[in-house]
Amino acid sequence: MSARRARFITVEGIDGAGKSTHLEWLAAQLRALGHSLLVSREPGGTELGERLRELVLHADMDVETETLIMFAARREHMARVILPALAAGQWVLCDRFSDASFAYQGGGKGVAHDKLSTLERWVQGDFGPDLTLLFDIPTEQARSRLAAARSPDRFEREGQAFFERVRDAYLKRAAAQPERFVVIDASRGIEAIQEQIGDEIRQRFTPDV
Ligand SMILES: Nc1ncnc2c1ncn2[C@@H]1O[C@H](COP(=O)(O)OP(=O)(O)OP(=O)(O)O)[C@@H](O)[C@H]1O
Ligand SMILES: [Mg+2]
Repeated sequence: MSARRARFITVEGIDGAGKSTHLEWLAAQLRALGHSLLVSREPGGTELGERLRELVLHADMDVETETLIMFAARREHMARVILPALAAGQWVLCDRFSDASFAYQGGGKGVAHDKLSTLERWVQGDFGPDLTLLFDIPTEQARSRLAAARSPDRFEREGQAFFERVRDAYLKRAAAQPERFVVIDASRGIEAIQEQIGDEIRQRFTPDV
């Protein structure tokens, strides 16, 4: 198993799209296949990152400040957690990564694409996910799933127009990088989605899965 290359897989989508639900399922599948695995999330993923997460989710701040904090937390996460895990042969599954900055701070809040690309290059160099599962769902449907689940944070309190922009920005980014993204129709039932994810993983990563 150790001779096989570990993969970095991210899940993306608007709040309530089903990222955490399916990440947990995928982690269980990969573990059952015998892979050593690290599951993480952004913002967060390190002790400092979790403190920064608290700030960006709950403190009011300028959107460019917010963007810089997101990428600072990402740098810490990548350098201290993600890269060492991959080097040690662990697969890494992450709930959100840079695509979320393009979608939320870019599409949602209007930060210029150039600035985001510059930060992405600075923080990541050539590094990025091997595969990104984008859970795409109408904003209304995501909102009603979330309403049943928990109380909203600073992002989840944004209006529907905000989430429409975030959703569009995600879809644009997926269209620009079709080899990395799989867009999943997340309005369907959980079983149909799991079947698609399983197929994608086998198709892309056999014989390593
Ligand atoms: N395909 C589905 N059909 C029905 N309910 C679902 C489906 N996927 C997820 N859910 C439910 O919707 C809610 C939101 O899902 P989940 O927490 O996985 O979304 P998320 O994308 O991680 O959201 P957030 O960005 O806010 O963390 C949960 O209660 C979950 O059980
Ligand atoms: Mg989640």
